[in-house]
Amino acid sequence: MDRIRIRGGRQLKGEIVVSGSKNACLPAMAAALLTDKPLVLKNVPRLADIATMMQLLRQHGVEIEAAPGENGHAHGTRLTLKAGKITSTTAPYDIVRKMRASVLVLGPLLAREGEARVSLPGGCSIGARPVDLHIAGLKAMGARIDIDGGYIVARAPKGLTGARFTFPKVSVGATENLVMAAALAKGTTVIDNAAREPEIIDLAECLTKMGVPIAGIGSETLTIEGVEQLKPATHVVIPDRIEAGTYAMAIAMTSGDVELLGGRLDLMEAAAQSLRAAGVVLEKTNRGFRVRRANGELHGVDVMTEPYPGFPTDLQAQMMALMTRADGASMITETIFESRFMHVPELMRMGANVTIHHESALVRGVPKLRGAEVMATDLRASVSLAIAGLAAEGETTLHRVYHLDRGYERLEEKLAACGAEIERLKG
Ligand code: UD1
Repeated sequence: MDRIRIRGGRQLKGEIVVSGSKNACLPAMAAALLTDKPLVLKNVPRLADIATMMQLLRQHGVEIEAAPGENGHAHGTRLTLKAGKITSTTAPYDIVRKMRASVLVLGPLLAREGEARVSLPGGCSIGARPVDLHIAGLKAMGARIDIDGGYIVARAPKGLTGARFTFPKVSVGATENLVMAAALAKGTTVIDNAAREPEIIDLAECLTKMGVPIAGIGSETLTIEGVEQLKPATHVVIPDRIEAGTYAMAIAMTSGDVELLGGRLDLMEAAAQSLRAAGVVLEKTNRGFRVRRANGELHGVDVMTEPYPGFPTDLQAQMMALMTRADGASMITETIFESRFMHVPELMRMGANVTIHHESALVRGVPKLRGAEVMATDLRASVSLAIAGLAAEGETTLHRVYHLDRGYERLEEKLAACGAEIERLKG
């Protein structure tokens, strides 16, 4: 298995191209299942999770062509997806266990074919992550759903019917599944307490181009008019706000100065606000935004993760890595996922001072971190250790790099181009 070796202490200087958003791209790819017409997606990042979604969709019968992209600063892939005929309505365990977002095929398959069997997902090991909200929403639209042999077995032989559904808790994936299912349902679906993440807005905009009328995009109430047929469409995926935020924290960590090309500050205001309070300067530029440290120390700031527009859980571990070196203390509270502090013991092995009290972590800044052999159990935890390694004294070796490859495109290349001493060790 590959490892990444970092020698800490170099300032990051230069430019980094922000890739297309993984979490916007995955549901948009699943939306291709709704129609026999082609869907072209541009600015698709080259990531293991995207390859997994391609593998899953292909086994449902989707024809996929990948070509180099040409979109602005980002050079992502262009995917053409065409689900002429659905050849299987089963999403098998072997693929779904690799990536939880595989559950996004449930809504579209059920809506188009009247049936779907989707293995209960695995994915990142950050808490229980149930799928009850996905199931409740689809049931409200008339589906019969059982759990059988580790599979979600959903049926709607006469098709789905538009309904009004209020989510008892905000869920990104369940909102996406329901919006896609509603696209082919009979009549109007109203979703209350919908997630408002930029990735949901991007999916809604993609579906609108495919001919699905959706009102309330960006709000917590989405109204979707079901249609009989969708249209061919082309959609450019938004830049990855989590990747941009991750690099912003890495740059701050090394007192660097980097322009994030294609990055959109407007998609990460809560994170930007926390970084500014910590003493980081973020400025919009013509090509994206620039990140550098203001003169002086990095200050400890308190952060609580919340659904969008709050501080994203997907940047919590990276923010914690940054706070390990701050002047003063920082209270980091995780409200979205339980057990999302798996990076803490590893950060402590590098010299960080962190105490966990239930869903909060108290981080007391230390004057220096020391390199170590570290290992992470999920994507964002993994990259937080890389951020710590960039500022640590000596050498840090990051194991289980496959977590990073799920969500960060050419991380070591992007950081090395800005002066980091970082390399991938094969095998
Ligand atoms: C998506 C993102 C993930 C991000 C998360 C929260 C993708 C592919 N992944 O994940 O990177 O960390 O949003 O911003 O876009 N829940 C239930 N029942 C359900 C579904 C969810 O209780 O049926 C709970 C979860 O356990 C969690 C909370 O709801 O506590 C939010 O999860 P959700 O928004 O669904 O996350 P994902 O869509 O899985």
